[in-house]
Amino acid sequence: MKVLIVYDSRSGNTEKMAYAVSKGVEMEGVEVDVKKVDDASVDELPDIDGLILGSPVYYGLPTGKLKEFIDASVKYHGKLEGKVGAAFASSGGIHSGAETTVIALLEALLIHGMVVQGTSGRNHYGAASVGAPDDNAAEACRKLGQRVANLVKRIHG
Ligand SMILES: Cc1cc2nc3c(=O)[nH]c(=O)nc-3n(C[C@H](O)[C@H](O)[C@H](O)COP(=O)(O)O)c2cc1C
Repeated sequence: MKVLIVYDSRSGNTEKMAYAVSKGVEMEGVEVDVKKVDDASVDELPDIDGLILGSPVYYGLPTGKLKEFIDASVKYHGKLEGKVGAAFASSGGIHSGAETTVIALLEALLIHGMVVQGTSGRNHYGAASVGAPDDNAAEACRKLGQRVANLVKRIHG
């Protein structure tokens, strides 16, 4: 069982979130790979059980690089059904696009037929941070990673 985290980050905030999410996946005993979008290839997608996308908020949406990655993933359209998906975002301010960015990423994963689990607790859609993750945001990231890992184990274990 393996989870891949693909993130974009210019000033390091989303990158910090990515490594906090990966810690959560590891805590549940599931293998995880963390890749900056520039180094990631859609050719890894058929071999993984879960995909977590992370992006800075750019005008309320994911970055162009993340969108390019998503568009390239059409190569495996129909082949990713039932894999687990999740998303996180870093914004510059509060109420300024983190949720719309997370939802935009989740839309793409849902179109691939992936399974996305929300939560009735805090951070319903994924994880969000204003700037670099503080302790609360880092905890939300770890919880997201744990949620994905546990779902991967239930579906693919
Ligand atoms: C082109 C651009 C557009 C941005 N648009 C938004 C925005 O709509 N809302 C917001 O809160 N922050 C916006 N920001 C700020 C970034 O989302 C924020 O600084 C984020 O933490 C950067 O993440 P990074 O350190 O991983 O690059 C924008 C930044 C850039 C460079």
